[in-house]
Amino acid sequence: MTERVPLLTAAIFAAVAAALITLIPAAAQQASAIDLEGQSDQGKVTYAKNCSHCHGPNMVNSGTITPDLRAFAGDKTRFVTTVKQGKNGKMPPWADILSEQEIADVWAFLLSRRPQ
Ligand code: HEC
Repeated sequence: MTERVPLLTAAIFAAVAAALITLIPAAAQQASAIDLEGQSDQGKVTYAKNCSHCHGPNMVNSGTITPDLRAFAGDKTRFVTTVKQGKNGKMPPWADILSEQEIADVWAFLLSRRPQ
């Protein structure tokens, strides 16, 4: 009997540890999904103020005069660079107007507008 107690303790400990290992990443993932959602809401506001008159309300446009941002093929780095520097003298540069955070928020909004 005395030998079983430590075994049982070890078994409980292992079960708790296993539960924690599975729970922690799930909680972290959920937190980052919520973060992204909040960011996307902020980005929607920033987009509506600064980008929608050219790229269309809610990023809906035909893609003929300005690119349809829902179909943007690049990654976040290319997005941030283009938004900061502008493109071909047609897309205005935003580096002096929008903060790093505001541009990241618009990126989160773009991700939420991509076809699933
Ligand atoms: C004055 C109109 C105008 C405004 C305002 C504007 N854009 Fe643009 N944007 C353009 C045009 C035109 C292009 C295409 C440039 C080219 O490729 O020659 C473009 C291109 C882009 C691209 C590059 C797409 C690609 O595939 O390379 C991104 C990203 C982008 N815009 C994001 C934004 C964001 C974010 C905002 C708001 C902060 C914004 N734009 C505001 C006109 C505008």
